[in-house]
Amino acid sequence: MIRLGVNIDHVATIRQARGTAYPDILAAARLAQAGGADQITVHLREDRRHIQDGDLRILRSELSLPLNMEMAAVKDITEVALRTRPATATLVPERREEQTTERGLNLVSEYQIISPTVEKLKKGGIAVSLFIDPFEDQVRAASELKAHAVELHTGLYAGATNMLTRDKELEKIRRASRLAKGLGLKVAAGHGLHYENTGPLIKAVPEIEELNIGHAVVARAIFVGLDIAVKEMKELLI
Ligand code: PXP
Repeated sequence: MIRLGVNIDHVATIRQARGTAYPDILAAARLAQAGGADQITVHLREDRRHIQDGDLRILRSELSLPLNMEMAAVKDITEVALRTRPATATLVPERREEQTTERGLNLVSEYQIISPTVEKLKKGGIAVSLFIDPFEDQVRAASELKAHAVELHTGLYAGATNMLTRDKELEKIRRASRLAKGLGLKVAAGHGLHYENTGPLIKAVPEIEELNIGHAVVARAIFVGLDIAVKEMKELLI
């Protein structure tokens, strides 16, 4: 069965919007766990717009599920990761003005920046995943960087407005996944996935071992609760 990482950044976004102590991030993670989440994913952004350093500490010390920390390859966030020691660090590109992570890393042009971060995290006992667009050169670079995994950006697939584009994007994900698996990389995917587009993706791409999903699950949770929203997503992964 495909592992489901539930991204709970949005829970922290609601809390930060009013500067309250609620909603409680640990309670949210535990509800996601009750619904069948296999890991909790959070993005410690440089501007700390949602997840805070204290959230990471609490999740790491109180939660039995593995923690996947999304992060930019920058010095101070890397230091936080090394102190927190999540099970996995997923390196992502970060732009302050973006709403969410809009694209994958460019491992080819940023090799010299990313390589030492990968090294440091691995030395710290943290598995490293690289969030990339589904392109062959990016997958090959991830392999050269000796990452454990790649997470393929599914945003263009998810955002496709017609079948032709969707199939084209699906084909790119399929090829990149096949190559990654062949090179010994674990294959994860995420971004923009929801209750309608996740099934067709995993059916078309059997190499995918893990999905990280946030927005759709937290949005659904408003109506049914977070545990049920996660359970409904898990049921699509069987
Ligand atoms: N994976 C990565 C690397 C991300 O940056 C995000 C967004 O924070 C997600 C998965 C989840 O995307 P979504 O919220 O669209 O499900």
